Amino acid sequence: MDNSIIVREATEADAYFAEIITNEMAESAKARGTGIAKRSPDYIKEKMSEGKAVIALTQSNEWVGFCYIESWEHEKFVANSGLIVSPAFRKTGVATLIKQKVFALSRKKYPDAKIFGLTTGLAVMKINSDLGYEPVTYSQLTSDDNFWKGCQSCVNYEILVSKERKNCMCTAMLYDPVEKAREAAEKKAHEAKPENFWGRSLRGDNRVFERWVKFKQFVLLKGWRKKNEPGEEKKPSLFGLFW
Ligand SMILES: CC(C)(COP(=O)(O)OP(=O)(O)OC[C@H]1O[C@@H](n2cnc3c(N)ncnc32)[C@H](O)[C@@H]1OP(=O)(O)O)[C@@H](O)C(=O)NCCC(=O)NCCS
Repeated sequence: MDNSIIVREATEADAYFAEIITNEMAESAKARGTGIAKRSPDYIKEKMSEGKAVIALTQSNEWVGFCYIESWEHEKFVANSGLIVSPAFRKTGVATLIKQKVFALSRKKYPDAKIFGLTTGLAVMKINSDLGYEPVTYSQLTSDDNFWKGCQSCVNYEILVSKERKNCMCTAMLYDPVEKAREAAEKKAHEAKPENFWGRSLRGDNRVFERWVKFKQFVLLKGWRKKNEPGEEKKPSLFGLFW
């Protein structure tokens, strides 16, 4: 990454960038053809003034990237949402730095909260994995309806509803501070704990990520088409029993 890029906590003085950020979020979602929860400039400004956002800028004050914090279920859960990097600055490590900063800010503000994310993006899965997140089922995320309402503006919302909020195109990942503290204590005590399948494979081999995402999308879309496209058989899928 260009060392001159500044990654810092956003403040209300950054409100000017809110519209640039929401426009880029919408453009990027369109370009990817994937779903995203829509955010308004006012919502982004609110996050900036509450000290719940991280922004990246060049020395000459050009916007580079952004991410913010949301809390759910009386601060039991926290999500680092709306990660976005300006296309000109992608693939140079900016998102990694923003996520590191927003993760540290989340841990400082909400030390007891579980931090989670929902994403279809390989880049975000990799970054989350390096931060200690583990893939989990949707049932391990917040049950707060307000969080799930955010998915209503996503193109895949019908799939989420048809799966009764148990699964969708996004992969769920979670950082559980209690679990991490337990793991650290075990490590300290030299009790070798074998890494689980996901822990090992997500960190070790990025191709496993890609195969996982493709497989999941294939299964979900196949099941969804069967139910929704006219003329298709409406037999229950074997996978439907598990997903
Ligand atoms: C996703 C996004 C935030 C990544 O930003 P970035 O600054 O390019 O990411 P980084 O350079 O920090 O890359 C982090 C890792 O992901 C990888 N990566 C980056 N873009 C990737 C892509 N499109 N596909 C697969 N891997 C990718 C990088 O190679 C790097 O991996 P490494 O650590 O093994 O080298 C950026 O592409 C973006 O803003 N996309 C549109 C919005 C979006 O998808 N947001 C995420 C919503 S959950």
